[in-house]
Parts: sequence; C-alpha cells; structure tokens
Amino acid sequence: MAGKKPHILVFPFPAQGHINPVLQFSKRLASRGLRITIITITSLAKSMHLQPCGASIEIETISDGFDEAEMTYVIQAHLGRFVANVSQNLVNLARKFVSSGDPPIAIVYDAIMPFCLDVARKLGIKGAPFFTQACAVSALYYHYYEGNLKIGDRLGTTSFSMPATPVMQIGDLPSLIPDRDLYPVFLSQMVNQFSNFQKADWLLVNTFDKLEEQVLNWMASQWPMIKTVGPTIPSVYLDKQLEDDKYYGLNLFHPSTEACMKWLDTKEKSSVVYASFGSIATVGGSQMEELAMGLKNSNENFLWVVRASEESNLPSNFVAETSEKGLVVNWYPQLQVLSHQAVGCFLTHCGWNSTSEAMSLGVPMVVMPQWTDQTTNAKYIVDVWDVGVRVNVNDKGIITREEVVLRIEEVMEGERRDELRRNAGRWKELAKEAMDKGGSSDKNIEEFVSELVCS
Ligand code: UDX
Repeated sequence: MAGKKPHILVFPFPAQGHINPVLQFSKRLASRGLRITIITITSLAKSMHLQPCGASIEIETISDGFDEAEMTYVIQAHLGRFVANVSQNLVNLARKFVSSGDPPIAIVYDAIMPFCLDVARKLGIKGAPFFTQACAVSALYYHYYEGNLKIGDRLGTTSFSMPATPVMQIGDLPSLIPDRDLYPVFLSQMVNQFSNFQKADWLLVNTFDKLEEQVLNWMASQWPMIKTVGPTIPSVYLDKQLEDDKYYGLNLFHPSTEACMKWLDTKEKSSVVYASFGSIATVGGSQMEELAMGLKNSNENFLWVVRASEESNLPSNFVAETSEKGLVVNWYPQLQVLSHQAVGCFLTHCGWNSTSEAMSLGVPMVVMPQWTDQTTNAKYIVDVWDVGVRVNVNDKGIITREEVVLRIEEVMEGERRDELRRNAGRWKELAKEAMDKGGSSDKNIEEFVSELVCS
C-alpha cells in the first residue's frame, strides 16, 4: 500500500448538469494527489463521450438495473429500485477495489442521492454530499423540508423572505415547490437532500463565499462542516492550468462539428448573443418561434444551441434565413463560447452551471428561467448580483418576439449595458480570487483533502 494515492469514489447524479461540476471538482482533487474513480450508470455510459480526464481520474460504470431506460423515467417511476440496485452495486464496486488493494477511503456523491451516505457507512468510509445547486436554492428546499415554507398559507399571495434570503415572490422559489403537484417525485428528490445531510462528514457546495455570503453565513452557523468549493470551472479559464485539467469533460451530447470558434473569430468584440437552455429544458413550439423571431429581429449576431431533440420546433427555413448573422448548433462546449471575446450577452435558462459559468467569465445575461432551481437563480442574477435583465411573460404566458428583442438590446446596447458589464467583470474577478491559490474555495479544497487523508 505504501506510496499509493488515497482513493476517492465520486458519484455524480447521472445528468449533464450534475456531471460537469463534480468532474471539475474531481480534477482539483486529483491535482492534489488523490486517485479518483468517477462512477457512471450503464444507460448513460453508452451515450457518453469519454475524453481522457487525466492520469489520476478513472471512470467505472455500474448498473442501476435499467440499462436501456431513460433516466427521467427511472427516477419518476422506479426510484426505490434505482436506489436499491445502485446501493448494492456501489458496495460491490468498493469491495472489488478492496480486494485489488486499492480500498476507497471516502465517497463524494451528489446530494440528491442521500442513500450514498448509508453505503459509505456500510463500507466504513467517509461520505460527503456535493450540492450542485446554489446555496440559496438549498436553503429554500431545506426550509420547505422543515415545514417552514407553507404555500397557500403565509406565502399565498404576498412576498416573503426566509432567513438570509432577499424579499421574494412565490415565482422566485424553485418551481418544484409551487408546482409540487406536477412533479412530486422530483420535488421529493430535492427535499430529501436534507434527510441525512447532518450526519455527513462534510457538505461540499458549488459556490464561493462572496457570491452567496449571506446565506452561507447562515448555513455555516448551523452546519460548520460546510465547504464552498466553487465555481467548478476548469482551471484554464480561471487560473494557471492544472496538470490534470487538460480536457474539457464528459459529454452526454455530441459536440457540433460546426466551426463555432472560427465563426466567433469573425465577429467583433461583444457583438454576439449566445443562447442556450442547457441539457434538459424544452422550449415549447410557439415559444420557440417567438424566441427564434426575437433573435432574428434583433440587431445582434447570435449563436444558439438547439439540441437535436428540439430542432423540429424551429420555424422552417430559420437557419437558412438567418445564416448571415446567426449560427445554430446542437451542442458545443459552452465554456469555450462564453470565454470568447465576441460574446456580449448570454440568453440563458439559468441552470446553476450556466449561471456560475457566465458569472465566472464576466458575461451579462438575459434570463429566461424554465423550471426547478432556475427561477431562484434568475432572481439572484437580476436583483442580487445585478448582472442581467429578465424577460417578461405576457398575460398568455408567452415571451413575445418583441420582448426578446427589447431585453437583448437592453443588455447589448441600452443604458445599462456598461453597468451590467462592469458588474459581471467584478464577479469574474471574485470568482477567480476564490479559486486562486489561497482563495476561499481553494483553501477549502486544500483543507478537505488534508482532512480526508488524515482521517
Ligand atoms: C440541470 C438543471 O436544469 C439546472 O437547473 C441545475 O442547476 C443543474 O442540473 P441543465 O439544465 O443542463 O442542468 O443546466 P446547467 O446547470 O446550466 O448545465 C448545463 C451544462 O452543460 C453546463 O455546464 C454547460 O456548460 C454545458 N453545456 C450546455 C455545454 O457544454 N454545451 C452546450 O451546448 C450547452
């Protein structure tokens, strides 16, 4: 055993928005001398584009018992069996490593899979949930879990605030809470993050101290084992490139072959609107048309990610008719786009990764939240961090093409443009500072590693 690297199992929830931050965090651990095994699920591994992640990161696949099924279907209809199968197969995998002389000393798991802590305890190793969402969102789910957020009661019609949150409207809550009858399984998955988290050895959160200072102070006063470790952006975008950080990641989508970077290179500084709705959200047919016409009618160039599954919702001939000023791709490494000098604005669904990537790269936003935590992230982007503007929904529930144009122009050309850019630039500096050597998140990662190794 002498000389062997301490071995950590890392288990992201099997979805793109959960894999990305955990993979980037793993790279930070690997660069500090740990050996990492990232665990994926068979059904996902099939569509995953595995790029080498560095000498100290390996990928292992386990079965959840539904090797041919869609993840959303499994979670909605068979959560219990998913948990039982995955728990057993995690134990088997860990025991295989024990037999081969490489026993894991801890498991870092997505907080929405709290059963992993039971697995850790069964194996006699440490366990740390990784919260992929903003701490403000975690705090709101926690209050709901504790029964302190009663919709239809104190929140019925009025604005409200919870400890360490700004004044909010009901629409600023994670949408699963007000829409609890629509997505009961997803909501219970979110609130169950808090079922055993106080028994974990550490709580890892994908944010940084200055970004969510108020809510973090409140959380740390109750749960001192909390550690901010974000933003989980590859080191190449923030600081000196780490040895183990040469590759972008694990993609569940085929990156477009379109020459995105070459196209962006031909555009002037800050002249392109980048639009993307992440890996899950779907923009319905009529809304898609309004969005498309808004992008077409604005004065700006645009680069729009429309996943292959959504392409049929585009208006006919849209791509050909806008080819002078626009490029539509199915998927492209987002960080490369956001860090390109031609990008002046991000029209976003406000997934937490997209939000923290844009903040870390200093890109102002037009926010168009779709569901889950995105509604709360949008509130913070606009009203707390002051780096974006929100599209208004009309009384028919639609964001019109005119509204899309207005909000894009507000960020790209309007009176507030310079202020929004300045604010975004300030957050970029603070994000970098947090991850720089000796910065708040960097110190926390360092501490986490030394506590792991010494425990
Ligand atoms: C989901 C939820 O919807 C989100 O709200 C939650 O915070 C995390 O899980 P998703 O909707 O996919 O994630 O959005 P987001 O969190 O923004 O993650 C998308 C990721 O895919 C980002 O890391 C982004 O960089 C990446 N991406 C997206 C690409 O690399 N290329 C693309 O073309 C689009």
